[in-house]
Amino acid sequence: MGKKVTVVGAGFYGSTTAQRLAEYDVFETVVLTDIIEGKPEGLALDLNQSRSIEGFETKVVGATTGTDGSGYEAIAGSDIVVITAGLPRKPGMSRMDLLEVNAKIVRGVAEQVAKHAPNAVVIVVSNPLDEMTALAQLATQFPKNRVIGQAGMLDTARFTHFVAEELKVPVGSVKTLTLGSHGDTMVPVPSRCTVNGKPLSELLPADKIEELVTRTRNGGAEVVALLKTGSAYYAPSAAAARMAKAVAEDSGEVMPVCAWVDGEYGIEGVYLGVEAEIGAAGARKVVLTDLTESELAGLKEAAEAVRAKQSDVAGL
Ligand code: LAC
Repeated sequence: MGKKVTVVGAGFYGSTTAQRLAEYDVFETVVLTDIIEGKPEGLALDLNQSRSIEGFETKVVGATTGTDGSGYEAIAGSDIVVITAGLPRKPGMSRMDLLEVNAKIVRGVAEQVAKHAPNAVVIVVSNPLDEMTALAQLATQFPKNRVIGQAGMLDTARFTHFVAEELKVPVGSVKTLTLGSHGDTMVPVPSRCTVNGKPLSELLPADKIEELVTRTRNGGAEVVALLKTGSAYYAPSAAAARMAKAVAEDSGEVMPVCAWVDGEYGIEGVYLGVEAEIGAAGARKVVLTDLTESELAGLKEAAEAVRAKQSDVAGL
């Protein structure tokens, strides 16, 4: 039988994710839900009408849901659920400012997911990302490998773009990596960055690399400051959709994601941005990479920062 993927939340992030998933043409059904009556149905109708132009057969189903759980029957049996529900940042806000309001929303959604799609792999994108991923696991009680968060692919893609722009080379020739949290303790990994296989450190002076690292760390805020009304969605949805595709195809691709780390890098029990092999089970396993001493120290610092916040969300 064909695969079914649900995107919860039909804002810009959710609707562009649904569009990308539908256009891959690998799913039988893409379900898009929202609490705003008619919005997911309207977007689904619009997306379905694009099928003959874009040439895909995937059917998009829109469903309005209530906080009482009504409407969630539409997600029944989903193989994958992408949770985008929650508020985005406004200029001047940090992702952490969204903690309380989004915790309530994500908890409510996760409980419905557990009820209606008990075998799904859950991909969380709501902010603050690492905390919302931990909360979704708590609220669903799914095995930890089946709940993952999207952030590392996005931060990595931003870093790649900045490097490509700086060196005026095709993005395809650039490889970068970011680990750690999707926030202030993000850990860009310059030692793993190459351009046509050449280490970045041979192509750019250290202070220039540091500048690009800082811009990457603030990559989300830079877009928020320009948009003024919300946060980024093209690059974020590209990352989330690729993760969902890797799950659907059980591809085993290694991606930087927010995954449960328990012992790897000497870090105990926390959701953190690391590289993981992604397949039908979600995060099949965390893939270790060589880090310099300072990068490893940064990762451990990120782990402690998100651990403290993740224990707070248990009570929200
Ligand atoms: C960003 C938001 C989506 O980084 O977290 O753009």
